Amino acid sequence: MKVEPIGLALVGCGRISAAHLSAVIDQAPLFRLVATVDPDLTAARAAAEPFGAKSFASMVEALDQLDVDAVLIASPNGQHFEQAKIAIGAGKHVLVEKPIAETGAQALELSEAAAATGVVLAAGHTFRHGPAVRTLMERLPSFGKLLSVEVSQCVFWDGPQAPWWADRTTEEGLILSLFAPHALDFVQLVMGGDDPLRLHVEAARHQSGWQAEDEAMMLFAYPDRKMVSVHISYNQPHVHDRKTLFFDQGVAEIRDGELLRWNNELLVEPAAGILTDSSKMGGRDLSHYFSAQLAEFGKAIRGEPHCCPTGDDAARLIGLIDRVREQALLNSVDVISPSIEEKN
Ligand SMILES: NC(=O)c1ccc[n+]([C@@H]2O[C@H](COP(=O)([O-])OP(=O)(O)OC[C@H]3O[C@@H](n4cnc5c(N)ncnc54)[C@H](O)[C@@H]3O)[C@@H](O)[C@H]2O)c1
Repeated sequence: MKVEPIGLALVGCGRISAAHLSAVIDQAPLFRLVATVDPDLTAARAAAEPFGAKSFASMVEALDQLDVDAVLIASPNGQHFEQAKIAIGAGKHVLVEKPIAETGAQALELSEAAAATGVVLAAGHTFRHGPAVRTLMERLPSFGKLLSVEVSQCVFWDGPQAPWWADRTTEEGLILSLFAPHALDFVQLVMGGDDPLRLHVEAARHQSGWQAEDEAMMLFAYPDRKMVSVHISYNQPHVHDRKTLFFDQGVAEIRDGELLRWNNELLVEPAAGILTDSSKMGGRDLSHYFSAQLAEFGKAIRGEPHCCPTGDDAARLIGLIDRVREQALLNSVDVISPSIEEKN
C-alpha cells in the first residue's frame, strides 16, 4: 500500500534546524519538507531551497498551505507555547523542540488542545531515541528492582550560543530550561508514571554572558524509596555524560549516550564514526537521534506504537521543571543573580 508523505513545515531555521533537515532527508519518503518559516527570510529560504519547499516569514502564512500536515517547532523557547497552540488550532500535528512550553500550565493547555483536536503533540526529547536508551528500556524489567539513578551531563558552552540565551531571566531559567529537559526526560522515562514526592535543587551561575543559572544539582525522592540525583553543567570543558542505574541485581550504565553496560557486560556500543572524542563538544555525531525522533513522530501521526513523549506525558515533564526552577530560586538566587558578581 502506498503511504503519502507527511507534509512538514519547519518553524525556526537556526542552529538546530540543520539536524532536523538532515532527518527529513533521512526519513524520506515518510516526510516531505513543504514549508519553512523564519522572520529571517534569508535563513528560511536557504533551508527551503534544497527541498523545493516554500518559505515564509510567519508561521500563520505557512499553516494556510494545504500540504502542511505537521509542524516542527524549532524557534526560541519563548515562542513554543504560542506557536504550538496556533498550529494545533489549525489542526496540524506538532513536534515541539524541548521545552514544549515555559510552564507546566501552558504545557497542559497544549496537551488538552491536542487531545480535543485529535492531533499529535510530541516533545523533542531527542536523546531518548538512541540505541542505548532503547535497549535499556527493553531490558529494564530483567535487571531487578530499581533502587536509585544518577545522571550527570556536563558540557561546555562559552557564553550564549544564540542571542536569546543571554536574555533568559533567572525566573525563566537557562540550563534548567534548555538542558535539564534532556536529563529529566531520561529520569521520567525510567521512573514510568511516578513523579517525585520530594525534591531539593541547588543552582549557580559561573559565567557572566548570561543572567540565569548555568550549573545545577537536583535530588529527588520517588515513591517506593527510589532516589535520583541529576547534575547538569555548561561549565565543563571535559565533556562528561553518564547515566547510572542501581538495581538490586547490579548496575546499568549509559556512557556518552552511546554505550550501555549491564554489570561487566557491554550490551550496546556505537556504530563506527558516531563517537570520535567523547570528551570534546562535537565529538559525537548526533544525527541518528534526530532521524529516529522524526521516524517516531511519523509513527505517532499514523497512530502506530511509538517512543515519542506525547500529550500529558510531555506536559508532565514541564510540570516537573516548574518545581525544579521554583526550588532553585528558593535556595540559590544569591549565587545566580547578577549582584553576586558585584559582590565578588
Ligand atoms: N533537541 C536538541 O538536542 C536541541 C539542541 C539545540 C536546540 N534545541 C532547541 O531548539 C530550539 C531552537 O534552538 P536553536 O539553538 O536552533 O536557536 P536559534 O536561535 O539558533 O534558532 C532559532 C531560529 O528561530 C527563528 N525565529 C525567531 N522567532 C521566530 C518565530 N516567531 N517564528 C519562526 N522562527 C523564529 C530565529 O530567527 C532563528 O533562526 C530551542 O527551543 C532549543 O531549546 C534542541
